[in-house]
Amino acid sequence: MPGGAVVMHATSNPDRVEAPITAKAYFLCVFASFGGIFFGYDTGWMGGVLAMPYFIELHTGLKPGDANFEIPAWKQSLMTSILSAGTFFGALMAGDFADYFGRRITIISGCAVFSLGCVLQTASSSGLGLFVAGRLVAGFGVGFISAIIILYLSEIAPRKVRGAIVSGYQFCITIGILLANCVVYSSKDRMDTGSYRIPIGVQFLWAIILASGLFFLPESPRWYVKRGRVDAAARSLSIVRGQPTDSDFVQDELAEIIANHEYETELIPQGNYFESWFACFRGSVFNPQSNLRRTILGTSMQMMQQWTGVNFIFYFGTVFFTSLGTISNPFLISLITTLVNVCSTPISFWTIERFGRRAILFWGAIGMAVCEFICAISGTVSQSDSVVKAQIAFICIYISFFASTWGPGAWVVVGEIFPIPIRARGVALSASSNWLWNTIITVITPYLVSPTKGDLKSKVFFLWGSLCCCCIVYTYLFVWETKGLTLEQVDRMMEECGSPRRSAGWTPHATFASEMGLTADGAHLPIKVGSAVAPDEKAHIAAGTKHVGQAATQEEV
Ligand code: BGC
Repeated sequence: MPGGAVVMHATSNPDRVEAPITAKAYFLCVFASFGGIFFGYDTGWMGGVLAMPYFIELHTGLKPGDANFEIPAWKQSLMTSILSAGTFFGALMAGDFADYFGRRITIISGCAVFSLGCVLQTASSSGLGLFVAGRLVAGFGVGFISAIIILYLSEIAPRKVRGAIVSGYQFCITIGILLANCVVYSSKDRMDTGSYRIPIGVQFLWAIILASGLFFLPESPRWYVKRGRVDAAARSLSIVRGQPTDSDFVQDELAEIIANHEYETELIPQGNYFESWFACFRGSVFNPQSNLRRTILGTSMQMMQQWTGVNFIFYFGTVFFTSLGTISNPFLISLITTLVNVCSTPISFWTIERFGRRAILFWGAIGMAVCEFICAISGTVSQSDSVVKAQIAFICIYISFFASTWGPGAWVVVGEIFPIPIRARGVALSASSNWLWNTIITVITPYLVSPTKGDLKSKVFFLWGSLCCCCIVYTYLFVWETKGLTLEQVDRMMEECGSPRRSAGWTPHATFASEMGLTADGAHLPIKVGSAVAPDEKAHIAAGTKHVGQAATQEEV
């Protein structure tokens, strides 16, 4: 058999398209979700630094106790939002890189770019230029990482725990935010550059750990299939499923991925660079399964996640709590909110697989809206000490709803809804939408709450509460139930259901492999794939199935 060709077996039984979950599969996914630490840490430290006396003095020339001892709103906006702006562009470009160089290499490159950004920020002093440039570059790296980790995790995680695994990524985001707050808390009273340089410097550690670990992790089997490297896909799948390459489980799953890829490629022919981008916007806006609708769903899902207003608390919480006037230690309150965020996220590991994506997003939005309106009404009516305490309690409950529903749920959904030909770009577009809205919100909110500008104080929660009401309607109308399905079955479900509202009741009844002729009623079929396939065949995978129609040669069997 030349070139180490693979003899493939495929199944027509939809329940057999994946191997049982092993501890190794868990371990690989859990390690990859470590990328969330970057995301969280990098978004978490800025808010605290903005309220540090040394940092304020450095950037304003004012002394503690002076009137309006705070960084002007425009500078706060710029320093905070420039990271999200860099991340927006990073995430957007990451899809191209991930399709071309692979998911792993893209994430490792993201770590390198991110480290460069950290060097620039650490080197900065009183001037804005270097600091802002460093945050922009670091943002680029975070963009790569935040988009492609989701893609990678969704592509390697076993279907029954995919939601929980991607929620693990969100858990790491929350730990990152908490770590940032702890480091900021410990350095906030320093009256030297260590106050802000320590929180920035710590980030190198995350880059080193993630990049070194990823060297040992396999590339996504689905990427190999997309690139036509079926032998490599089989090896990678065997590692992530902890089964030998020639086990029926690996062969069945691989056949299913190949058949789905082939099916999707027939529907969405892969042309040149621009055509492959254009493919993300193909189809009718009225057709719920069209690529255009999936791209709108992914990008709007991330927009809605930002509309919940959670980053108002994480970015400007310290400044907001200070503005309420009665809180003696606003840093501590911010620390508590991030702790609530961390502790509530694991609830989703179970609920997302037990109740499904639609249910937790729907009820989560209701819970958040109620808490936000309570905060808004109580804070508008009175600003007494006891009302402020009650507000803080409801802010914590609100964070807890976010952390167990929309925080992980929005990422889980975007990792699952795109077909393989447009998956990398679709996830990248969705992640960049997250960062775009993140930027918009971080630019606008200082103006809404700053005492010298809008000074909305608690009334700002009317805005977030109303936006959460939009999330309720949005989930009901547009979010698909993808729990327990392979990524290939999600495709089929969208085709057959017609409406997200009916999706929860759908169950898989056939495999792509059987429909694409890769099986004959479950019989073992010899498919020779790998180097024996003509190198100039564009769809290497299509070549793989062509062998099915041909009589198997002695060599192939
Ligand atoms: C969001 C971030 C947010 C974080 C809070 C993520 O899912 O995308 O914007 O800061 O959750 O935990």
